[in-house]
Amino acid sequence: MVYLAPSILAADFSCLAAEVKRVEDAGAEFLHIDVMDGHFVPNLTLGPLVVKALRPHSRLKFDVHLMIEEPERYISLFAQAGADYLTVHGEATPHIHRAVQMIKSLGLKAGVALNPATPWEGLRYVLGDLDLVLIMTVNPGFGGQAFIPGVLPKIVELKAELARIKSRCLIEVDGGINSETAKACVQAGAQVLVAGAAVFANPEPAQALKRIRQAVSEGELE
Ligand code: DX5
Ligand code: ZN
Repeated sequence: MVYLAPSILAADFSCLAAEVKRVEDAGAEFLHIDVMDGHFVPNLTLGPLVVKALRPHSRLKFDVHLMIEEPERYISLFAQAGADYLTVHGEATPHIHRAVQMIKSLGLKAGVALNPATPWEGLRYVLGDLDLVLIMTVNPGFGGQAFIPGVLPKIVELKAELARIKSRCLIEVDGGINSETAKACVQAGAQVLVAGAAVFANPEPAQALKRIRQAVSEGELE
């Protein structure tokens, strides 16, 4: 099963609730919410207030991607705001184990994101605790960037390690995902596909999601 996670970074922020409804009606499973602090990444987006405001408007699983330094400071606020999956960057804190335990203690699914240049091996001793690993396929900070194919072997290696330890942790990819790159990511082992521009730039998000699902299932049959 492959799950699609439209990223609201590419949505029209003047009418977010309607945009979320548009992708929910189109058949998405997750809503990917990008939180940027202007330090960890050179951009600013939104905080827990926006997540809280959107929560009553959607039944989608809220997949909150924290691109912020010292994410421990904000974990409980995003939990209260209604996140289902909460993902912190491995590069943003020296205390990944503690951050993961904080997320899980609040009853949320815990994820760790890795930038393109970061090896997965740094997660070896926490992998058994994780619900999701987010493999960045662009450098985080902006939507609409080109997919970095050099990251694909990392997905393959991580998938093999998860199988070895019999973990059900999901592998998510984020950045430059469209019907072509999605296929390569799923063949490498990804199960959750984040897509911003490819979904929201399309006047018919259902068509965009369908195209991605089709490409992925053709890849699975090959
Ligand atoms: C980038 C964000 C992504 C972004 C993806 O820092 O983490 O979630 O929205 O956008 P596209 O799909 O347009 O590359
Ligand atoms: Zn993201």
